Amino acid sequence: MDRDQALNEAQTVLTDEAVDDAAALRRVVEVLSEAHPAWSWVGFYLLVGDKLILGPFVGPDTEHTEIPVGTGVCGQAVESGRNMVIGDVKQYRGEYLACSPSVQSEMVLLIKDDGDIVGVLDVDSDDLDAFAPEDLDAVRPLASLAGPRCRRLAAQLS
Ligand code: SME
Repeated sequence: MDRDQALNEAQTVLTDEAVDDAAALRRVVEVLSEAHPAWSWVGFYLLVGDKLILGPFVGPDTEHTEIPVGTGVCGQAVESGRNMVIGDVKQYRGEYLACSPSVQSEMVLLIKDDGDIVGVLDVDSDDLDAFAPEDLDAVRPLASLAGPRCRRLAAQLS
């Protein structure tokens, strides 16, 4: 599956009302992971109060199933209201939560619904500088489509 096919399938499943929220988010991380061999971990975190709660993901298990806002790259993205791309996590001055020692770079995309942050799409790579601006641009359309689904799933967790 190439990137365009993955993005098309992700957009289709996110807009298919017959697919439930968890299944839709799961299919998104599966196709993104399949289309990007350099992406070693792809997952959603749902914003519940002042914590990010791990949602569907593909990749190694992580101890970071709950991340307080302001903590780690994901928490800092939510706190600052900015997407984050870290070319070299070992050089990153902010707080970084290591999920696997092999990870070298990371991309965090804010998921919004009606202007509210409702979660993040978090992507790791074992390669340095694995994420170009085009990567963020490519997944950005998924952020708004995933918004209502993340808000509903987060509501079920609160
Ligand atoms: N590295 C992230 C934590 C999540 S793992 O990458 C899955 C962070 O610093 O927020």
